Amino acid sequence: MHVKINFREKMTKINEPLTLPCGQLIKNRVCKAAMTERIALGNNFTNEKHIELYKMWGAGDIGILLTGNVQVHRDNLEGPANVAIEEDTYKEQMPMLKNWAEAATSEGSRLWMQISHAGRQTPGEINMNPMSPSDVQLKIPGRKYGKPIPMTEEDIQDVINRFVFTAKIARESGFDGIQLHSAHGYLLSQFLSPDINHRTDAWGGSLENRARIHLEIIKKCRAEVGNDFAISIKMNSADFQKGGFSPEDSIQVAKLFSDSGIDNIEISGGTYEQPRLLGLDKVSINPKRSENRRESTIAREAYFLSYAEEIARVVNIPLMVTGGFRTKAGMEAALADGACEIVGVGRPLCANPYAIKELLAGQINELPKYEKTLSIGPWWLSPTSPFRLIQAINAFSAQAWFYQQIKKMGKGLMPDLNLKPWKAFREDAKADQEATKEYQNF
Ligand SMILES: Cc1cc2nc3c(=O)[nH]c(=O)nc-3n(C[C@H](O)[C@H](O)[C@H](O)COP(=O)(O)O)c2cc1C
Repeated sequence: MHVKINFREKMTKINEPLTLPCGQLIKNRVCKAAMTERIALGNNFTNEKHIELYKMWGAGDIGILLTGNVQVHRDNLEGPANVAIEEDTYKEQMPMLKNWAEAATSEGSRLWMQISHAGRQTPGEINMNPMSPSDVQLKIPGRKYGKPIPMTEEDIQDVINRFVFTAKIARESGFDGIQLHSAHGYLLSQFLSPDINHRTDAWGGSLENRARIHLEIIKKCRAEVGNDFAISIKMNSADFQKGGFSPEDSIQVAKLFSDSGIDNIEISGGTYEQPRLLGLDKVSINPKRSENRRESTIAREAYFLSYAEEIARVVNIPLMVTGGFRTKAGMEAALADGACEIVGVGRPLCANPYAIKELLAGQINELPKYEKTLSIGPWWLSPTSPFRLIQAINAFSAQAWFYQQIKKMGKGLMPDLNLKPWKAFREDAKADQEATKEYQNF
């Protein structure tokens, strides 16, 4: 039975528990946001590294741990070392998936599996013919992406079934919930974007049609996993690209999702072309079509709060906002303003897996902000350089720094805070090449 609770009650403390519509109790208001681990081997199975990593985060007093994106199709990964769950091999992977759930939840955190399909954002080294709603190709300098093949009706039904199957396996292996990844330009968000989805059938055109695949997946997942399992969806407040998914669209879609029987919506924003999810307002791969965040939200600690406030007015399930939260005061203000009921935190937990525990215990009032200090060189090579290329290299290097820390924790080691971003960039590129080879050889 779905529990009806008034979620828009004002509250101010991040250590207060929360009961979700499915009845699941979350011990506090903080969620570790999904961060792709990229530590699976060539077969895309979960392994000991996931266990080591989530043992650390599991000891960090975090309400919900969201996994990095777990893929529903080995041919449509976001990166070569992603975990993927498929019907013909899942049995072999099951014991390790159970260990993963056990390691993450043994100290009371909830573990939700983020489920995804990369669609046209599948790297060319994995697949030069990825699937997407239409054939709109992604172009990013220095990266290879194939021209996507528009999905047939059969492909769409297959993808829906794959999401449902992965949700079922998540439940059977001891996870507490799933999250559908429909943000940042991945397949489900490609369906939402009028810029990428040019279909004229039941899966394109009107907003209802563009959201149809989500509603089908939600309906079938709920029927498969039952009423006491958390279902969440991560969506963009906007793509921040002219002609893309707009803030007005996001309010209407959030209402559709809220009425579909899910437990939570997480608000983020941006895509590979407009990486606003990381607060990078100046970096754009497609500057001519870039759209800025509103001034009112740029002034705030978390990037998407003013968008979330508008969404909060139309939905009646708990909202999560992710991106930029770094202070206890900032988090509690967002909860008190009614912008969200859960705060998502990503990068600080790559620098200190126990940062939330320390924040809740009053030992610190601010989370680590390494993204503000990482630079590949002196001022003229720093992220504030006027040159777009330098800005982009800094952004890639900073991202590599976080990937490398995740890999370190996967070996049971604490993050190396002295790691230089340029070194991280090179190490990450090498790791990616090796992982691609392992994937291709498997
Ligand atoms: C290393 C890294 C990996 C990420 N992988 C994912 C992912 O798999 N799925 C996802 O929805 N978001 C992913 N993100 C975005 C984060 O979930 C989050 O939205 C973003 O980091 C902003 O939050 P923060 O400012 O607290 O870091 C990733 C971010 C980083 C830094």
